[in-house]
Amino acid sequence: MNDYSAYADYLADIINRFSGEYSCSPQAVQIENQMIKWVASIIGYDATTAGGATLSGGSMSGLMALITARSHYNITSKQVSSCCVYVTHHTHHSIIKALHLVGMGDAQIRYVDVDDMYAMNVDHLQQLITADLVAGLRPWFIVASAGTTNTGAIDPLRRIGVIAQTAGCWYHVDGAYGAFFILTSQAARLFDGIQLADSVVLDPHKGLFLPYGILTSFPHTLY
Ligand SMILES: Cc1ncc(COP(=O)(O)O)c(C=O)c1O
Repeated sequence: MNDYSAYADYLADIINRFSGEYSCSPQAVQIENQMIKWVASIIGYDATTAGGATLSGGSMSGLMALITARSHYNITSKQVSSCCVYVTHHTHHSIIKALHLVGMGDAQIRYVDVDDMYAMNVDHLQQLITADLVAGLRPWFIVASAGTTNTGAIDPLRRIGVIAQTAGCWYHVDGAYGAFFILTSQAARLFDGIQLADSVVLDPHKGLFLPYGILTSFPHTLY
């Protein structure tokens, strides 16, 4: 952890300002908004239109992405069981938990194969989506990992993004562990296509060594 973030955490604790509402703490809200714009710009989003929020961690952020996607497509409780969610066995378990939390535990979970580097096999993803469409189901939510917890594997983000756009799916990138490596010259190219995502999760308490409990996620559209 670096000194500045430790002091900032200390200040936030002793001042204890509520930053969920601009009028209560304009400075804190502005700091959060500036940080969100900065992260949006490193992802490759248009920082003038992108939005987001700081939450308590990666799990909460995945939950927020699911809720946002459910609202975006106006998924009703009757439609849940026909909605398909595409993950791999290396997707963080918090996503499946979050599905249950939002009342979508009956959604169809599709486990996409991984290649020998543990990254998502996009051909298999396409096959699963095609089969679901033929079966009259609704491809809805694709989760790509930008750094899996188990191995650090980064899924082919651009190719998955194109498939998601064509299929009309929400495209979520879980970069909780790995996405801040986009700041390094060695790894930046591996994140090509992350900007196609409808939501991205990054954990500054992982990649930036900030105090625990800071998280930012970026739906394109604010709700
Ligand atoms: C890839 C990934 N996603 C989500 C999470 C959950 O993050 P948190 O522990 O901050 O809730 C983790 C935590 O290790 C993670 O590695």
